Amino acid sequence: MKFFLDTANIDEIRQGVEMGMVDGITTNPSLVAKEGREFRAILEDICELVDGPVSAEVVSTQFSGMIQEAHSLAEIHENIVVKIPMIFEGLKAIHQLSKEGIKVNVTLIFSASQALMAAKAGATYVSPFVGRLDDVSHPGMDVIQQIVTIFDNYDFNTQVLVASIRHPLHVVEAAMMGADVGTMPFKVLEQLIKHPLTDVGLARFLKDWEKLAV
Ligand code: G3P
Repeated sequence: MKFFLDTANIDEIRQGVEMGMVDGITTNPSLVAKEGREFRAILEDICELVDGPVSAEVVSTQFSGMIQEAHSLAEIHENIVVKIPMIFEGLKAIHQLSKEGIKVNVTLIFSASQALMAAKAGATYVSPFVGRLDDVSHPGMDVIQQIVTIFDNYDFNTQVLVASIRHPLHVVEAAMMGADVGTMPFKVLEQLIKHPLTDVGLARFLKDWEKLAV
């Protein structure tokens, strides 16, 4: 499974890259706003650091505005993937952009039917939000299982990008289900590394080694 970092923070991205854990990046307007820097400049910095897809989201909700933004974003770097919301106008934009060869990540997906439609329109990735589904008492991972099954049934090339990941179990379950990508905050990447028995074991090894040294 590919690991993407869900962040626009350059320090976090650099640390993830140093660990060899970053296959790509996803951003959204909320994450970009947190950085307080110009959108294009952030994307240029990310593309310089990461050798993989970098999702950048449009903010227009109309077909023509989305297409205009998508063209402008796509020209920043060949690795840019344009993020389009799963709405009526968005579907039209996905269809058009995929015909032009521009990669699209369809965001704000909350059901298998939305994912199926996005795939039919030509999406490169669909982003179902598992954490936000869990927040409203709908098991997010059930939707991932449905989407993986549907895409396998019909041999769609569209990749399942599990988004809104909140904890390590989301990542493990996504991997068990065969999802293509998990995009996670840096905090979850750190949590995935940790195990209390690793810390206890290391402390014991070092303590025993000290005894030999004296
Ligand atoms: O980028 C989309 C998604 O990953 C957002 O996650 O935690 O804001 O629900 P979250």
